[in-house]
Amino acid sequence: MSSPLESPTTVSPPSGKNTLTVTDNRTGKTYEIAITNETCKALDFRPIKENPSDFGTMIYDPGYYNTAVCKSQITYIDGDQGILEYRGYSIEDLAANSSFVEVAYLLIFGSLPSSNQLNLWNSKIMNHTFIHENLIQLMKSFRYDAHPMGMLISSMSAMSTFYPEANPALKGADIYKNKALMNKQIFRILGKLPTIAACAYRHRIGRPYNNPTNTLSYTENFLYMLDRLSETNYKPHPVLTRALDKLFIIHADHELNCSTATMRQIASTLVDPYSAVAGAASALYGPLHGGANEAVLRMLEQIGSVENIPSFLEAVKQKKQRLMGFGHRVYKSYDPRAKILKEVTQEVFALLGKNPLMEIATELERHALTDRYFIDRQLYPNVDFYSGIIYKTMGFPTDMFPVLFSIPRAAGWLAHWVEELSDADLRIFRPRQIYLGKRGEKYIPLENRVSPQNELSSYASGMSSRRQVSDNDETNAIPKTANGSKSMLSQSIESTFGN
Ligand SMILES: CC(C)(COP(=O)(O)OP(=O)(O)OC[C@H]1O[C@@H](n2cnc3c(N)ncnc32)[C@H](O)[C@@H]1OP(=O)(O)O)[C@@H](O)C(=O)NCCC(=O)NCCS
Repeated sequence: MSSPLESPTTVSPPSGKNTLTVTDNRTGKTYEIAITNETCKALDFRPIKENPSDFGTMIYDPGYYNTAVCKSQITYIDGDQGILEYRGYSIEDLAANSSFVEVAYLLIFGSLPSSNQLNLWNSKIMNHTFIHENLIQLMKSFRYDAHPMGMLISSMSAMSTFYPEANPALKGADIYKNKALMNKQIFRILGKLPTIAACAYRHRIGRPYNNPTNTLSYTENFLYMLDRLSETNYKPHPVLTRALDKLFIIHADHELNCSTATMRQIASTLVDPYSAVAGAASALYGPLHGGANEAVLRMLEQIGSVENIPSFLEAVKQKKQRLMGFGHRVYKSYDPRAKILKEVTQEVFALLGKNPLMEIATELERHALTDRYFIDRQLYPNVDFYSGIIYKTMGFPTDMFPVLFSIPRAAGWLAHWVEELSDADLRIFRPRQIYLGKRGEKYIPLENRVSPQNELSSYASGMSSRRQVSDNDETNAIPKTANGSKSMLSQSIESTFGN
């Protein structure tokens, strides 16, 4: 097995110059390309051409395995050593000593706040926790069983319509040169996101939405909005508040993960931050990203008991299954966040009792960490391996997991938004493609086209088929397939029952 990050050529002895010499064997020409911060500019490869009329050489990198799209000073990761730092502070120190709100300040403004700055920052966020009554009505119009992540994404997107003064489409592309306006949107997004998340949760379980209480801490208030019934002074348990705070800290940023790259991509158009956060949250919703901890739980439930672990791992090795919560694009050693979470697991278990899935998870981890297949591929537990078990033990339904990820990750998304908009190198994201399709096709008039059977023409739901075989002229006027013929299913129904 060869890693895509392995160098294909041997490295020559250092010449003392920070350049790369490239010889194009098609032409025999040699090019010297600058190396800065271990990086070459992709555009420096463009002049390498066989013929003057050629487009020039591009870099092919599906999934951005080895492509830097920005310079950043927010989060440092050393995937081989298992190091994660926000603005130079280790994740272990921050999880042990900080609150999530303090970490959000650190990520966005670049340094730890003074006591006064923290108080002001906290009160600004907590004073923006109420959501507009129209937004509440919008949330209430969702179906009773709507996935809370769908509600969160739609509500965040809807928020862009509530603040016209914050919309560059209405007020001008450069409005965010005004830092006060930028900060106000940050207060709103960080303040209102837990309220939206709590409303989505209460909607799902059929209970009235709770108003926020800004005398509580950020995570306390969130748990309060989830759980308060009729109590006048409901206060969540401090162990759970602190556990959630730690979970929020370790999830707050992770440099250019898929959702943060999405945030930067969308924000590069200078759209309003609500639309950009809604898009980033959509990226986070996928099972290979924020949905992975939900998938871990389903996997543990499917394994069912410790005896089934060897056969499950065999299926993984035969690529019939994926070991969810293992492997990471960046970490090629133990994810430092998973280590912190293993401790949080014990704190939550001490209060609420041990989750039976933990035994399977621990054994699964032990087996995988001593198995050649996983060792060779540098597959270790990632943050999602334990977060799902903690959330489940804390009583969260699995569909809330990506929501619980989105709330803290919004701090990271916003830190990248702020950094990106002040970056002199900012350009609208516009990758290139390698076009391998047809060229110069001759247009065929509709009546002369013969189309082969495809997915569209063979599809018909049971209801459509029933309607299509009816005698109703209007129903029959609806084209049945792309080429106007009856679908295979309706043809087979007709041949069985007659037209
Ligand atoms: C996170 C993830 C998407 C990273 O993928 P990636 O960087 O593209 O890694 P690759 O798909 O190139 O994997 C390299 C090799 O390891 C294997 N591999 C990677 N993750 C694996 C997993 N979780 N289970 C089994 N095999 C895995 C791949 O099959 C591949 O094997 P091969 O060389 O024999 O083809 C991937 O590890 C994964 O799907 N993990 C499970 C989902 C998860 O936990 N996501 C949360 C991330 S925080």
